Amino acid sequence: MKNKINIAIDGPAAAGKSTISKRVAKKLGYIYIDTGAMYRAITLHVIRHGDAVLDHLEDVDIRFGASGTSVFLNGEDVSQDIRSQEVTQRVSEVSSQHQVRSYLVSMQRKIAEEKGVVMDGRDIGSTVLPEAELKVYMKASAEIRAKRRLEEEEARGVKIDIDTLTEQIIRRDALDMNREISPLVKAPDAVLLDSSYMSIDEVEDKIIKLAEDLIRS
Ligand code: CDP
Ligand code: CDP
Repeated sequence: MKNKINIAIDGPAAAGKSTISKRVAKKLGYIYIDTGAMYRAITLHVIRHGDAVLDHLEDVDIRFGASGTSVFLNGEDVSQDIRSQEVTQRVSEVSSQHQVRSYLVSMQRKIAEEKGVVMDGRDIGSTVLPEAELKVYMKASAEIRAKRRLEEEEARGVKIDIDTLTEQIIRRDALDMNREISPLVKAPDAVLLDSSYMSIDEVEDKIIKLAEDLIRS
């Protein structure tokens, strides 16, 4: 019989985590969980209603659509709104708050209880699922990540220049790496994957091979 495993994918902004995690989950028939989308949804809620909502996070319902790509905040599809510049600018600050982290980390652990989950974020291998059978830390140079994000923003019709995007990425990484609670860090047992000069297919193949070895063992 095949073992179900959990796969944790961490790394800085625009390293390719969600693209790869979606593909790996599809190939293995696993559930994909974008934890960044959960932090973004809470940030949107804070932007709309003010910081006081941080003391009532139990009122915030976050769900994923069947494909794992749509995100619902209290029943409203916010999949587009959570990618706005306003949310991107504030998300690292909101994510550093202890109430936010404990609320989302316990939700994420519950989702992964049955295994068969590919979860991407910043602290999955280090804090959320330290027992995950496979941990990957994806990185790529800031220049390449900014170029990739620029193409995505242009495709969405957002007007932004490469210097602003590079600055935003570097600032967000610094906030994520230096916060007090569960900062972005490579877990000691995570496989390091530099995707700077790898195609999406190459990264996917590499992770699938690692996963299949564990599933068979
Ligand atoms: O896709 P992108 O790289 O722009 O970021 P994301 O995965 O959507 O995450 C947005 C932000 O949420 C990050 O910059 C972190 O501040 C926060 N985050 C976090 O603190 N912990 C996670 N497990 C996932 C995201
Ligand atoms: O989830 P995260 O913020 O880490 O990154 P992403 O949104 O999955 O990837 C950012 C962009 O990089 C996407 O447009 C991917 O298609 C692209 N990408 C790439 O060109 N080559 C790779 N090896 C991985 C991702």
